[in-house]
Amino acid sequence: MTTKIVLGVSGGIAAYKSVTLLRLLKKSHFEVTVVPTESALNFVGKPTWEAISGKEVHSKVFQATNQVLHVKLGQEADLIVVAPATADLLYRAAAGAGNDLLTATLLSSKAPVIFFPAMHTEMWEHAATQENIAILRNRGHLVIDPVSGELTGSDEGIGRMPEPEQIHALIKTFLAKPGVKQDLKGKRVLVTLGGTSESIDPIRVITNKSSGEMGSAIVRAAQLRGATVSAIVGNTNTVLPTAERLISVTDTNSMSEALATEAKMADLIIMAAAISDFRPRQNLEKLERSNTQSIELDATEDLLLNLTNNRRPGQTIVGFAAVTSDLLLNAQQKLAKKGCDLIVGNLINDQQGFGDLQTEIILVSKSAVIESGVVTKNQAAHLILDNC
Ligand SMILES: Cc1cc2nc3c(=O)[nH]c(=O)nc-3n(C[C@H](O)[C@H](O)[C@H](O)COP(=O)(O)O)c2cc1C
Repeated sequence: MTTKIVLGVSGGIAAYKSVTLLRLLKKSHFEVTVVPTESALNFVGKPTWEAISGKEVHSKVFQATNQVLHVKLGQEADLIVVAPATADLLYRAAAGAGNDLLTATLLSSKAPVIFFPAMHTEMWEHAATQENIAILRNRGHLVIDPVSGELTGSDEGIGRMPEPEQIHALIKTFLAKPGVKQDLKGKRVLVTLGGTSESIDPIRVITNKSSGEMGSAIVRAAQLRGATVSAIVGNTNTVLPTAERLISVTDTNSMSEALATEAKMADLIIMAAAISDFRPRQNLEKLERSNTQSIELDATEDLLLNLTNNRRPGQTIVGFAAVTSDLLLNAQQKLAKKGCDLIVGNLINDQQGFGDLQTEIILVSKSAVIESGVVTKNQAAHLILDNC
């Protein structure tokens, strides 16, 4: 059955980004009904929403009254996404107003709601806005913090709506487990993702095929489950998630340095990055064709073992094992050798592995072995968090 999404758009400058979001949702075969507020139509007009959604668009309760639209939309929705959510919209939603089609639809619905606030920093930090957000969150709605960056004018700060691709990815992660609870509220989660690369010479590197997709899905899933998430990001070719802190690294050394500061603060560390096991012996000059027959490799620092050796009480540490054979045995051996709480093993072969959106993982702890079967990486991310 097609998932029905109501895309609420309120009157902020970020409304233009939601046109791209609508396109992405349609490409993912969701049935999307756009409900803009009257203010939103000042930013992006009805014809754009109607042409791209392929549906009539209304913003007032007293339109298409033969269908009693707010009730129909509210009852039929599987998910309501409000992007951007203005300060005013958040206030009206928190107060339970129903004075336009969007707020009346919110009132008529039992579907989950995800708000993406976007506004100037002053409006975001205002006590009134923060109190309204607290009300909405206490009511069980998801309110995703805006990010820092360029705002409407020449200024910068927190208040920017995440990019449409990031919102689209977050919606897909949410729909991988729609009934998900805020079971990580108050927890600080650190995720490493992507691959590292080590210099062969000033021009070349040795790296791996990690796309960062699994780690990004874990970041998004942890955010949706209420955690405060930071991520250490190596080489990736995926849509990066938003996070409280995103630290970019290139090689094992910079990954190690970032872990040294970030790990202390985390309650849960998930090491999804593919960190190089080897580092070429340093070549300060570019290797020439004539002398490249062999490259000598040294083992790199074992960052997972370092973490477990220095773990603080109560800290949970999850490692990953990408293997090409004997999945269970390799995962069990890694669990014992590295002293972590959980190993996520995945078999890399021609059909699945790095970069693919589907995977098949095995979770190995001291007390249990759980096989996922073939799942999306979003589903795998939730399964991992279910078992942390
Ligand atoms: C150019 C312009 C940009 C605006 N951008 C925002 C914004 O990003 N966030 C916000 O909360 N309000 C913004 N506003 C103010 C809202 O449009 C105003 O509060 C409006 O009443 C919101 O109505 P709505 O919540 O029904 O869409 C902006 C106003 C203007 C004129």
